[in-house]
Amino acid sequence: MAKYNIAWMPGDGIGNDVMDAAKIVLDAMQFDATYVHCDIGWDFWCKEGNALPDRTIKAIDGTTCGLFGAITSKPQDEAKQELIPELKDTGLVYFSPIVKLRQMFNLHTNMRPCKSYAGNPLNYRGTAQANPSGADLMIDQVVFRENTEGMYGGVEFFPLPESVYTALCANPKMKPWKAKGLENVALSTRIVSKQGCTSICRQAFEFAKKTGRKRVTLIEKPNVLRETGGLMTRCFREVAKGYPDIWADEANIDAICMWMFKNPQDYSVLVAENMFGDIVSDLCAGLVGGLGFAPSANMGDTYAVFEPTHGSAPKYAGQFKVNPIAMLLTAKMMLDWLKESDKASRLEAAIARVISEGKVRTYDMGGKASTLDVAKEVAKYAIA
Ligand code: IPM
Ligand code: MN
Repeated sequence: MAKYNIAWMPGDGIGNDVMDAAKIVLDAMQFDATYVHCDIGWDFWCKEGNALPDRTIKAIDGTTCGLFGAITSKPQDEAKQELIPELKDTGLVYFSPIVKLRQMFNLHTNMRPCKSYAGNPLNYRGTAQANPSGADLMIDQVVFRENTEGMYGGVEFFPLPESVYTALCANPKMKPWKAKGLENVALSTRIVSKQGCTSICRQAFEFAKKTGRKRVTLIEKPNVLRETGGLMTRCFREVAKGYPDIWADEANIDAICMWMFKNPQDYSVLVAENMFGDIVSDLCAGLVGGLGFAPSANMGDTYAVFEPTHGSAPKYAGQFKVNPIAMLLTAKMMLDWLKESDKASRLEAAIARVISEGKVRTYDMGGKASTLDVAKEVAKYAIA
């Protein structure tokens, strides 16, 4: 019997291309696993009205962890249009299967490292003012995104049920919306808990301590989001007291987008609520060459699902053109989580070598190689 049982979830579009790339590398490294193929994604929404079928949830239950490619997500109305005719009038509601997975398996911590590798032609050089030498800015940031609560918690209404409307109207600030009429108002909530906020902050500080990082930055907006942002900020400060050697600083989401653009190399560990973490992690990805270089791990207490930060890029699906490096770095995160440290560091070193040699590159890096060519080149160096 193999040591690990991996839920294999390619999902949509280029998710399939990059998962094939991951398989080449894992096999070459003799990663001791069996793979359980799981149906997930847009096709299953269209054909079955469920992007995350029950059989997939059952299959996941028996696995050590999951590896996930990418997902196509569309707004409610567009999603409905694409259902097969038999399902069109059944009142089915689309939800993002990856968001559902994170909630269902309580994968509360989303860790998203963004690191520059030497020789990557896409490395960020910043502005001439901030970086007059024009040398690559070597960035090494890790975003900790709360993964189950906040704006993406899924508690939303349209139209507003009477009971919700009445409860909201107890707040005098509702006056302008009352005037606009119940039928014209939509509501998405931002619900956070002390437990959720404390846990994500603790993960960020623990990681900083373990890896010798000196700065943890909270990204919030407590001057406007006074209650939810306020709670997060208080939790952050409380947790920070336990780590007196680490500089705990705070930035607003809008301001950090500007500072990160100007001085990205100043930041190390970033921690945020779900939506702000989503936003800032794409920004960080942009600073290290784009989404082709951004891996992520959705981690709970005993289970985890590893996925590149990028989406399903439908226009490139099946063409084996896209950069698999984000996916390969994601496989590296999985190896780390499984405590296969030797394999994890060999894989990262092989990726770094392929990037710096520059012989085998996908189109985004100015090359002509395919997704699988890059995987084979990485595999060659990762073997031993
Ligand atoms: C991500 C993605 C997802 C998210 C989408 C596809 C639901 O953008 O993993 O960052 O917002 O979490
Ligand atoms: Mn995102």
